Amino acid sequence: LVFDDKIDACSAAADRIAAVIRDRVSASGKAVLGLATGSTPVPVYDRLVEEHRAGRLSFAGVSTFNLDEYYPISPLDPQSYRFYMDRHLFSRVDLAPNRSHVPDGTVPEAALEAYGRAYDGWIEGEGGLDLQLLGLGRNGHIGFNEPTELDLDRALALPTRPVKLHPTTIADAAKDFGGEEHVPRRALTMGIAPIRSAREILVLAFGPNKAGAVSGSLLGEVSARVPGSLLRPAGPRVTWMLDPEAAAGL
Ligand code: GLP
Repeated sequence: LVFDDKIDACSAAADRIAAVIRDRVSASGKAVLGLATGSTPVPVYDRLVEEHRAGRLSFAGVSTFNLDEYYPISPLDPQSYRFYMDRHLFSRVDLAPNRSHVPDGTVPEAALEAYGRAYDGWIEGEGGLDLQLLGLGRNGHIGFNEPTELDLDRALALPTRPVKLHPTTIADAAKDFGGEEHVPRRALTMGIAPIRSAREILVLAFGPNKAGAVSGSLLGEVSARVPGSLLRPAGPRVTWMLDPEAAAGL
């Protein structure tokens, strides 16, 4: 879907998320959301907060699982994704504090792989993700699943795990951390497998910097070299929500 601008696209994404929350909570008493950070989804969260404040949307019954977190990082660090989520959404709605999950940037080094497997287990234990919201990195990454040379079967099976950040990602994060040297070199990311297991996926991408990653994901080879393309093999329902600049290469 190509919208007139980013705000229209984010409003439509928020409306879809709100509809999934209402439908799932009325059908089964709960809804499970996969959430994303970055500059892209900020207006989505603002719109969900507006709906909540207007009395039209409750997060009672909602559980959330965020895609990723820098490593190592404290949840109190303003650059952490936990801090971002508290600021943009969690502290502004009636989501129960123990229902929000963001990968923990303070897990001891030796426990990281096991923590990733546990995170996937918690998602499964909740009955899986009803909807996953995604942004897209300039290099085509989803979450912090960076481009790799893995063969397709292995890439599609990637679990939640610790990863090294790609130089492009470190360069893009430099402005937030006050210089490249302050950007953590590693992260925890939800894997391709749990992302693809969501029953519905919304991918948001805006602006000219994302045009190459969008066309590579939608028109290029399905390959771990462009992680966004891994959303294409038959599976969940995926909707790309773009502005005209991000869609320019289509
Ligand atoms: C970050 C995050 C991704 C996000 C992407 C785009 O590195 N790990 O989850 O989708 O990069 O960020 P932005 O929305 O700021 O362009």
